[in-house]
Amino acid sequence: MTHSFKWWQKAVFYQIYPRSFADGNGDGIGDIPGIISRLDYLQDLGVDAIWLSPHYPSPQFDVGYDIADYTNVEPAYGTLADFKQLLEGLHQRGIRLILDLVLNHTSDQHGWFQESRSSRDNPKRDWYIWRDPQPDGSPPNNWDSTFGGSAWEFYPLTGQYYYHFFFKEQPDLNWRNPQVKQAMWDAIRFWLDMGVDGFRLDALGTIYEDPLLPNHTAGMSLVELQSAYIAAQNEEERRALGAQFDILHKYQIELPEVQDLMKELRSLVDQYPDRVLVGETSEIRYYGDGSNQLHMLFNFPLLEIEGPQTPAHVRKNQQQRIAAMPPGAWAANTSGNHDGPRVWDSWGDGKNNAARARLSLAEVLTLKGTPFLYNGEEIGMTNLILQDPALFRDNLSIYAYEKLIGLMRLPAEEALKMAVQYGRDRCRSPLQWRDAPNAGFCPQGVTPWLPVNPNYADGVNVADQEADPDSLLNFYKALLRLRKQNPALSEGDYVPLLEKSKDCLVFLRKIEGAQTVLVALNMSEKEHTLNLDAAGQFGRLLYSTRRRKSILDLKRVKLAPFEIFLTESI
Ligand code: GLC
Repeated sequence: MTHSFKWWQKAVFYQIYPRSFADGNGDGIGDIPGIISRLDYLQDLGVDAIWLSPHYPSPQFDVGYDIADYTNVEPAYGTLADFKQLLEGLHQRGIRLILDLVLNHTSDQHGWFQESRSSRDNPKRDWYIWRDPQPDGSPPNNWDSTFGGSAWEFYPLTGQYYYHFFFKEQPDLNWRNPQVKQAMWDAIRFWLDMGVDGFRLDALGTIYEDPLLPNHTAGMSLVELQSAYIAAQNEEERRALGAQFDILHKYQIELPEVQDLMKELRSLVDQYPDRVLVGETSEIRYYGDGSNQLHMLFNFPLLEIEGPQTPAHVRKNQQQRIAAMPPGAWAANTSGNHDGPRVWDSWGDGKNNAARARLSLAEVLTLKGTPFLYNGEEIGMTNLILQDPALFRDNLSIYAYEKLIGLMRLPAEEALKMAVQYGRDRCRSPLQWRDAPNAGFCPQGVTPWLPVNPNYADGVNVADQEADPDSLLNFYKALLRLRKQNPALSEGDYVPLLEKSKDCLVFLRKIEGAQTVLVALNMSEKEHTLNLDAAGQFGRLLYSTRRRKSILDLKRVKLAPFEIFLTESI
């Protein structure tokens, strides 16, 4: 085996959502000193790298994804000195740090936008996308924001509209202006020079839009389409409407220019040793030739299944992704992040969620690619279901609720339920550290920025689980250790086995001439007897969720319901 693997191919990443992770100064908002106070926790958990969601100054209209200054720290989270201390503390423990990089847009409070909107001849006017109204005063075209409503916002002072793919508080930068690129490249160098290990690129597909502004031909606005989707009677109708969503944003996303920009960014980052770029996209094109655009892309199609994972879904996903990836390209596998539901709920079945939570980790840690975990999943944090719209913090929920009530005339109770599902607060509630008021996230009497999920009192907290050898948290630690100790689990090729099995996901991870690991995951509540000797007749047990002998005859293996079973060929 001559191929040498990079640190980010062997690492397990852990996403920290800073507002909710740990509150150092007791004001109900997570912060950098809070993260610093939990460095031992991260080391003990066994993760190798952190992806930090935006930590920059921001009015928090989109919880940090609306940046007001690219080279500083949100005052509620701390100072640049705190940040440097965090970076140092992580590096001392052998943990890398990548930052979130939002290239498409800034906050409307960013100095650049403040200047840009101040007059038509301001030198930064062209840093954003300004267009005249149509003769009747309406927006320049029919494009919609992905968060609903027109993508154009009128600014009366200068009599023009500006473009925003996300909220109107997030105006799109004009990447066709070389000064914008220069300013952003400078910001990137600022962090790379400081020693950060790379970036997660936010919403990169939206960076460019068609400069000719052609109208889309979907025949409906996004909100109308969403309403029709909700009202659709069957799968067929939903599929037809699904195609309309693509037409709707046809001129606003995935323009070929994005790939040129990614190449340029890659060359910049490659001037620094050992840095990494991971894209919030699953579009294979952003791998380029496998070495000239992004190092990793998220395997989001793995998440595209209603309910628990099935072996057939995972096998099809692997087969399609691996076939489509250029040589040298590397996947990033995840079961969730700060935008989706909690994996406990999304990959659970309502009955066996505890067993399925373990399977979900086993799946992302053993498939080929770099695993990305989301903070809180290691203790089985569940979706927070807010019961009162006044508690919503995600503006997406707030807008959805208003629309469902106002436009669609849904009863309040139904609107509340849908707005909770549509929004993202559910996976952003504070980390549950112990069985104490506010789960130990912030002191008693302080109101956390989002309510703490009351199930911290039922064992869903770090301290209780640290003390329980059979807890989910200790299972996470054990599996992370196992991955580290067995190179085939990170470096090995993926070889599917028993491809007809409905209930069991079975595959090898194989480094020719070095190590072969057999992974068998029973994703059902039935016992299954399998012949697994394609991995050799005997296997040395690496892990099982049940008690087993250390050397096993693989010709006849009885897998218990939901068993996680790993052996090494001997
Ligand atoms: C990405 C982020 C999401 C954010 C959006 C706009 O999708 O993950 O949280 O709202 O980009 O920046």
